[in-house]
Amino acid sequence: MADFVGAVDQGTTSTRFMIFDHGGNVVGAHQLEHEQILPQAGWVEHNPVEIWDRTTTVIATALRSQNLQASDLAALGITNQRETSVVWNRRTGRPYYNAIVWQDTRTDRIASALDREGKGDVIRRKAGLPPATYFSGGKIQWILENVDGVREAAENGDAVFGNTDSWLLWNLTGGVDGGVHVTDVTNASRTMLMDLETLDWDDELLSFFNIPRRMLPEIRPSSDPNRYGVTRAGGPLGGEVALTGDLGDQQAATVGQVCFAPGEAKNTYGTGNFMLLNTGTDLVRSQNGLLTTVCYKFGDADAVYALEGSIAVTGSAVQWLRDQLGIIRNAAESETLAAQVADSGGVYFVPAFSGLFAPYWRSDARGAIVGLSRFNTSSHIARATLESICYQSRDVVEAMEQDSGVSLDVLKVDGGITANQLCMQMQADILGVPVSRPVVAETTALGAAYAAGLAVGFWKSTDELRENWNESQRWQPAWSDEQRQEGFGKWKKAVERTLDWVD
Ligand code: G3P
Repeated sequence: MADFVGAVDQGTTSTRFMIFDHGGNVVGAHQLEHEQILPQAGWVEHNPVEIWDRTTTVIATALRSQNLQASDLAALGITNQRETSVVWNRRTGRPYYNAIVWQDTRTDRIASALDREGKGDVIRRKAGLPPATYFSGGKIQWILENVDGVREAAENGDAVFGNTDSWLLWNLTGGVDGGVHVTDVTNASRTMLMDLETLDWDDELLSFFNIPRRMLPEIRPSSDPNRYGVTRAGGPLGGEVALTGDLGDQQAATVGQVCFAPGEAKNTYGTGNFMLLNTGTDLVRSQNGLLTTVCYKFGDADAVYALEGSIAVTGSAVQWLRDQLGIIRNAAESETLAAQVADSGGVYFVPAFSGLFAPYWRSDARGAIVGLSRFNTSSHIARATLESICYQSRDVVEAMEQDSGVSLDVLKVDGGITANQLCMQMQADILGVPVSRPVVAETTALGAAYAAGLAVGFWKSTDELRENWNESQRWQPAWSDEQRQEGFGKWKKAVERTLDWVD
């Protein structure tokens, strides 16, 4: 068998390709950003053709840099930003419209009508999700209603939908020349269209959004020995590799962090933050604003579920400091700027740019910086931004503890911001529990590689994967309980200020 497994991680801001060895170590990688298209307030789009183009470049570049080729890969996994929706023509291969990104709030009227029309509770029960702009269903409906010719093409089978996993799988396996149209259970569980118990598209849910079933991909396991397809020889790998792993990026990170037992959780710090708690084969319904989602399904084994706390804006708040406010030149400077002051000087920043996700689910919220006085500087704003990442995570941890009755004794973390020492120390202080980061912080790509490798016997079992997990760093809480309570109380007050901002 070949020595390596590859994984494409198609994220919100960039696409990367990573090559792993049997020990789960990164042996090669390449990454490219793509454009964030912001046509008007609340709208966020990506160009699917640009994403495919970036994907081909990162794959070819990473392989070339290590002198590797298709035959060196035992299998290939895909992981992706979830919910972001692409509709394309299967005959021409052309998208009808830009991908509507998960952060986009243009479907707020569609989402709020669902509760008014009594459909919200059906969606909560069957799909495990609250009606929100976040998920794919409303985005597909918007494209069907607003882009010329799509409704008709969807009815006759020409227009097809996919999240970016399906878009890439279709292109990698041949596109117009016979590409496969598939997704996995984890991605499907983010659409508001799949029943969590049957793991199939649900006609009642489809009727709420008036979506023709034939435009949807086939739902497959996240790790599939009956591979989804093979890469086209003329594609970026230059040869055939079995595609056997596909998971939404947060579920992939949960697998990469080897959270295989009920009660195990991880928190990923990306554009947003996403905490997932493995609940085993039990479907746990949240009473506290969390989502119920599929964690993974490996081959024929029963699906494993998770409770999820999704936070829309964390890393993207740091990007906002860089791109919109211009007070830092790169993400790393958020740490140096924030470290110039001992605390946030009374400033709290609630980055509710896309409304508030878990545990609030308030699309009427908008961001606020409160507690300002003339004394405050850009350092306080930077510090308040890092604190907002940690306070939002605390909101989610509290909801998880209430739903599960289990209190966290350590928080496993991964993702870009975990390189920020100050932010991770703040996280331990604000939560009051230690924070632990593994050696391989690229757990998202690693999880997709694990799913792909398990399907072809590259790794034999999840126990073998556990042996690959090693801690690299641990941050211990240093704040007193009093400090923690006072800070969190003020945070809650700041959150209140952001609500009821838009109708
Ligand atoms: O649900 C959205 C999430 O999958 C996006 O993750 O890492 O691309 O910000 P990320």
